[in-house]
Amino acid sequence: MSPPGPAKIPQHVAIIMDGNGRWAQQRGLPRLEGHRRGVETVRPVVDAAREIGIRYITLYAFSVENWKRPTDEVSGLMGLLDYFLKRELNNLIKEKVRLHTIGRIEALPANVQKELARVKEATQHFTDWNLVLALNYGARTEVADAARAYAAAVQAGTEPLADASWDNFRRYLYSAQLPDPDLLIRTSGEQRVSNFMLLQCAYAEMVFTPVLWPDFGRADLQAAVDEYGRRERRYGLTTEQIKSGAS
Ligand code: FPP
Repeated sequence: MSPPGPAKIPQHVAIIMDGNGRWAQQRGLPRLEGHRRGVETVRPVVDAAREIGIRYITLYAFSVENWKRPTDEVSGLMGLLDYFLKRELNNLIKEKVRLHTIGRIEALPANVQKELARVKEATQHFTDWNLVLALNYGARTEVADAARAYAAAVQAGTEPLADASWDNFRRYLYSAQLPDPDLLIRTSGEQRVSNFMLLQCAYAEMVFTPVLWPDFGRADLQAAVDEYGRRERRYGLTTEQIKSGAS
């Protein structure tokens, strides 16, 4: 028997951080307390991702649909985001992690936009490690925004209609500068993708864990990466073709 080969490490892991509300409910605490604990989970998970060798980690922090939650929960989440950005700036610089965002950032409160701009600017020269926050994000909204921009470029004559293709269209997505996620993790036992990076996850492996986001830790991330390593990604080919190195 040959020894195991090097472990397959996903380059980009996207996470739907779910279960903060239930975590709080189980303890008789307000929902916001669950979100507060959820924020505390972020740094150890980003640290663990870097140690594993994951170059991009994307966190679904606020969806376009989340505005419909009670106003005190929405303002609480915005407050936590502001707090997180202020607190993490020095750490991101120390660990050489670049911050990116995907989503309609221009609709977020002005103070949050200001913090985002500050942290992005301060980390923009880092290349190896990347933290992507999905904020006011929805995949269908992203497609509509990209289609509008693409159509405008066609109308302006800078984008020939005859060249319309996925490779050209993807340059108009919020995620144009990012590789596609290899692994999508959702916590809390729900098994759905909830309008999250639908096109970018076309070939992503999916791992659903019952662990609630505030309880999610290094070992849970490692377990998902191990599971990813056991999967065979075929991109529509057969196992035999994959083994013979076809692409
Ligand atoms: C889902 O839990 C979680 C959210 C809608 C927000 C996620 C946000 C955070 C973890 C905090 C902010 C993040 C950063 C990076 C500062 P839920 O409320 O839907 O849980 P439930 O399904 O149990 O009710």
